[in-house]
Order: sequence, then structure tokens, then C-alpha cells
Amino acid sequence: MAHQAFASAGLFDLTGKTALVTGGAQGLGRMIAEGLLSAGATVAITSRKADVCEAAAAEMAALGRCIALPADLSTPEAAVELVQRYRAAVGPCHILINNAGKTWGGEIDTFPDKAWPSVMAVNVQTPFTMVRELLPELEGAGTPDDPARVINIGSVAGMKTERLHAYSYSASKAAVHMMTRDLAGDLAARNITVNAVIPGFFPTKMTAHLRDDDEQVDPALLSHIPLRRLGSPRDIAAVILFLCGKGGGYVTGAQIPVDGGIVGCG
Ligand SMILES: NC(=O)c1ccc[n+]([C@@H]2O[C@H](COP(=O)([O-])OP(=O)(O)OC[C@H]3O[C@@H](n4cnc5c(N)ncnc54)[C@H](OP(=O)(O)O)[C@@H]3O)[C@@H](O)[C@H]2O)c1
Repeated sequence: MAHQAFASAGLFDLTGKTALVTGGAQGLGRMIAEGLLSAGATVAITSRKADVCEAAAAEMAALGRCIALPADLSTPEAAVELVQRYRAAVGPCHILINNAGKTWGGEIDTFPDKAWPSVMAVNVQTPFTMVRELLPELEGAGTPDDPARVINIGSVAGMKTERLHAYSYSASKAAVHMMTRDLAGDLAARNITVNAVIPGFFPTKMTAHLRDDDEQVDPALLSHIPLRRLGSPRDIAAVILFLCGKGGGYVTGAQIPVDGGIVGCG
């Protein structure tokens, strides 16, 4: 009986919810957007290129209502402007996924100064601006029983030394993890949860240099992952649906690795 009661409550059903996924046209953001759409949410996605954004939204329309909002999130001003367009196109916001991210790899001796402000802007500053600007919508959408959700996409690189020579990237992701806890503490009383999802290695453009193609993953990388495989769309979508669904409303300030055990088993 108890099992049936939970099932009928639709723990992962997002019908009637609205979400914004930055960088939702491709990579991990696309996996997340497809998961949210499949659960019934209306989803707005961003990409820097308008044609890429429109094409992705058109493809995902098979899953549900998907809205293209092209945006280059290199500056806080751009984030402010994106929220204005989101407000006009969608209105309420139950779920914000700060997924867009930028990396920069280089040897320590020649790692350039310009690799710092650009990475910190996309990975830390604009996610903060997105939360600040969407506060009226998030607060309006959340209730004590079913809060609004903010999920920041962090990285294992911000949790432990991964030797990726991506100095500004790993520092930016550690900053995202701490910012998540800070925001969670401040926004709990306003019925908004804030959590960090911490991916390990997923087959996207960002990790393309680590494999010849999707099948040929560097054996050294696989042996570094306790579960011996890369992450899949199902792996990332499931944790997002858990956090965004009715059953995830009591979790805030958490840092949840989805990494095949890299952080937890290390
Ligand atoms: N793949 C992994 O194994 C892994 C592991 C840990 C963490 N992550 C994190 O997951 C998130 C998604 O990365 P990914 O793996 O999907 O890599 P990706 O395929 O390279 O995607 C990066 C995403 O960020 C967006 N983006 C980059 N710079 C932007 C800018 N200036 N303005 C707006 N959007 C921008 C891209 O949008 P466009 O469509 O405009 O290119 C794209 O959607 C990132 O935060 C990354 O740090 C990934």
C-alpha cells in the first residue's frame, strides 16, 4: 500500500513546472533539458548561437514545450538580459539549472592570465547573477512543501585534484560548490533549495580530448573511475529529476557527485 501511495504521488512528475537550463542545447545541459521535458516540465534552453539554440529546441519539442533563448553568458549584464527575456517568454520559474560552463587547459608555465576572468565569469559570476535576477520568480514558485529549485553544475575537478591542468576551471568549480551552500543557507527561508550536482566524466565536447570517439575512452581515465565507465544521459537526468521532483524538496545545500565513485571512493 505504501509503495502505491508513493508511486501515485508522482515523485518525479514535473507537469506544470517551468525550468531554465543554461547551455541546454548540447552536452550535459541537453541531457538535463531532455530529462526535465520528459517529466512534463516546460523548459527554456540557452546557447550562444541562435541557430543551434532554435534547432535544439525544435528537436526537443517532441518531448514537450521547449523554448530557445540564445545568450552568451560571459557577462552579468547578459544574464540580466536573459532573465528579462525568460520572464517575457515563459513567466514563472520553478527550476533554474546553472549548467553553462567554460574550461581552459594549459601547462602551468604558460597558463595565460586571460584564462581566469573569462572562466570565472561564465562558471561563477553569471550563475550567481541568474539566481539574483530570478529571485522574484523562484520565490513566487516555491512553497514550504514544494520549494523552487536551483541546481548549480559543479565538477569533480572542484572537489579533488584531477591533474587536468585546468587551473581556473577547478578553482571556479570549487567556488560554485561553496556559493551553492552560501545561497542555500540564505534562500531556505524563501522556499528555494540550492544544490550542486557534481559530474565526473561524461562524453561531451568538454571531455572530447579524453577519447578518440564515444566508444574509445582513454584506458587510464577508465581505470581512474571506480565504476569503470563514463556517465550517461540517464545518470545525470536521474539525479536532476530526484532533486526537482516532489521527493527532492527536503534537500538543500548538498553537493551530490554523479561520477562513478571518483569523489566518494577516493
Ligand atoms: N562533461 C563532463 O564530463 C563534465 C564534468 C564535470 C562538470 N561538467 C560541467 O557540465 C557543464 C556542461 O558542460 P559539458 O560537459 O556539457 O560541456 P560542453 O559540451 O562543452 O558544453 C558547455 C556548455 O556551456 C555553454 N557555454 C559555454 N560558454 C558559454 C558562454 N560564454 N555563454 C553561454 N553558454 C556558454 C555551451 O553553450 P553553447 O551551445 O553556446 O556552446 C554548452 O552548452 C559545465 O558546467 C561543465 O563544467 C562537465
